[in-house]
Amino acid sequence: MGTITAGFHLLFLIPTIALHAHASSQEAHLTKFLSSKRSKSNISNKIGDPTGFHGGPFLRITSSPRTDGYPGSNHIALKAADKISALPGQPEGVDFDQYGGYVTVDGHNGRALFYYFVESPGNPAAKPLLLWLNGGPGCSSLGFGAMRELGPFRVNRDNQTLTRNNHAWNNVANVIFLESPAGVGFSYSNTSSDYDRMGDPLTAQDTYAFLVNWLDRFPEYKARALYIAGESYAGHYVPQLAATILAHNNDTGVILNLKGILVGNPLLDDAKEERGHHEYLWNHGVISDEVWAEIAGHCNFSDDSAYGDDRCYKAITKSQYESEDLDIYNIYAPTCITDNNGSYYSSSQLPGYDPCGEAPTMAYLNLPAVQRAFHARETKWSDCKIFVDFKDSPDTMVPTLKWLIGHGLPVWLFSGDLDSRCPITSTRHAIRDLNLSVTEPWRPWTVSHEVGGYVQQYKGGFTFATVRGAGHTVPTFQPERALILLQSFLKGILPPYEKAK
Ligand SMILES: *[C@@H]1O[C@H](CO)[C@@H](O)[C@H](O)[C@H]1NC(C)=O
Ligand SMILES: *[C@@H]1O[C@H](CO)[C@@H](O)[C@H](O)[C@H]1NC(C)=O
Ligand SMILES: *[C@@H]1O[C@H](CO)[C@@H](O)[C@H](O)[C@H]1NC(C)=O
Ligand SMILES: *[C@@H]1O[C@H](CO)[C@@H](O)[C@H](O)[C@H]1NC(C)=O
Ligand SMILES: *[C@@H]1O[C@H](CO)[C@@H](O)[C@H](O)[C@H]1NC(C)=O
Ligand SMILES: *[C@@H]1O[C@H](CO)[C@@H](O)[C@H](O)[C@H]1NC(C)=O
Ligand SMILES: *[C@@H]1O[C@H](CO)[C@@H](O)[C@H](O)[C@H]1NC(C)=O
Repeated sequence: MGTITAGFHLLFLIPTIALHAHASSQEAHLTKFLSSKRSKSNISNKIGDPTGFHGGPFLRITSSPRTDGYPGSNHIALKAADKISALPGQPEGVDFDQYGGYVTVDGHNGRALFYYFVESPGNPAAKPLLLWLNGGPGCSSLGFGAMRELGPFRVNRDNQTLTRNNHAWNNVANVIFLESPAGVGFSYSNTSSDYDRMGDPLTAQDTYAFLVNWLDRFPEYKARALYIAGESYAGHYVPQLAATILAHNNDTGVILNLKGILVGNPLLDDAKEERGHHEYLWNHGVISDEVWAEIAGHCNFSDDSAYGDDRCYKAITKSQYESEDLDIYNIYAPTCITDNNGSYYSSSQLPGYDPCGEAPTMAYLNLPAVQRAFHARETKWSDCKIFVDFKDSPDTMVPTLKWLIGHGLPVWLFSGDLDSRCPITSTRHAIRDLNLSVTEPWRPWTVSHEVGGYVQQYKGGFTFATVRGAGHTVPTFQPERALILLQSFLKGILPPYEKAK
């Protein structure tokens, strides 16, 4: 790496880390990942196969994924052992079953993934199965998805007790939160070199093995409709996993009854991502005309892997400085202010959102009684793991999405429209590259006579929806709207529209 690159790298990183170290490490993680990837782009990022899966949009798994299936393993007993009697500090009247535990995905190396599974209250047998994946790469679906976005509980400011989330996604589906890949949260490998070879392909392979083995433990879900959802870097994980599943079902008969995928504020294409990010900041009055003109003039966003020269990167750095006092993951949200004495508070009030919410979650998940209740290893839990060199992350997921749509899989993307990191502008650029014709034109959708967002459907069932007033982590900011969108996706119908009176 030359000195220019190294210098650029530092300049680019420091402001971002300083701003988001406290409140949004999941998101800061993605920014860091993208900039480090770009700084490597001159040397290592030219992947011949745009999907990163060397030879196709999906992964061929040659070894048997079954790891719990050795003779004599008692799946009923494993399931019973995973049942959570109650989480410490949970409110009264919890009317659904919870499970937590490990599924081995590589018996030889000793690699196991931790999951938290919440069934639906009422009649879980009538509801589908949904796997939720957070991004990073390297951030926890338990710490973010489950505890701060769409799970049944939120951790209170006392670090000890939980409050029910009325718009939890397990109202309409049985939801698995998977800490993925190994190394994240409670998930681990006994072979530490596994962390050095971690990347998109191994993540897809392990997640596939997880699902196959998990279903042996929960056989009543084997034939159930399966959906996969996620956000942010899961714009890689979800389509890659879906493609892996479809390819295997084709080879061996249906093992996993995959019915659709749903990804919010996804990372889909590095160059389109970068372009849309600065464009969004400019359009929303955050960066200056001058800096946007420099970016537009010097960066070539039609080249996926090396879209800029030094002038481009300098302009990007300026944009970064101009936006550094904002939470770029929701440019209208309050931020978390830390006092010199260590106490912290929200810079202003946004109902239902706590920019300092990471600290209580972190404290709660590190309580030994909580770790025991989840059936996790007693360990220092942290919300994100830094993979120094996350392997085979393709520059674009557009070919994989095309492949999935071409094979008839319902693919839905959504955008919280206040996020500037993986913003609606970037997602639209990637969708344009899909080159699909429109079947249901752009229209609003409503919740209680209010516009919840906009939606458009394309040939092949591909659907794009916005969620108005939401940042990067959509269910955190707009829980009711996110749940309506999920319900529509699960039913395979567009979200409702009622004209305001
Ligand atoms: C990549 O290489 C080009 C040409 O050698 C150089 O101008 C550019 O600054 C390099 N970019 C980075 C990020 O190092
Ligand atoms: C990892 O090693 C520990 C200690 O030897 C063992 O108890 C555990 O089962 C191993 N994990 C896996 C997934 O093999
Ligand atoms: C909760 O935990 C954080 C550290 O994660 C600590 O700073 C804070 O004081 C704790 N709050 C209470 C009420 O104990
Ligand atoms: C299934 O196999 C057929 C025949 O080999 C092939 O044409 C088709 O593309 C495959 N579909 C998937 C989803 O892999
Ligand atoms: C931008 O990159 C593309 C793909 O590498 C190339 O074809 C095109 O000529 C470039 N445009 C400019 C203005 O450099
Ligand atoms: C920290 O300082 C702020 C004022 O800057 C004060 O309001 C708060 O009470 C202090 N907290 C502690 C724990 O001393
Ligand atoms: C887009 O689709 C149209 C027709 O559906 C086709 O003629 C055109 O070649 C496609 N463009 C690209 C870039 O794939």
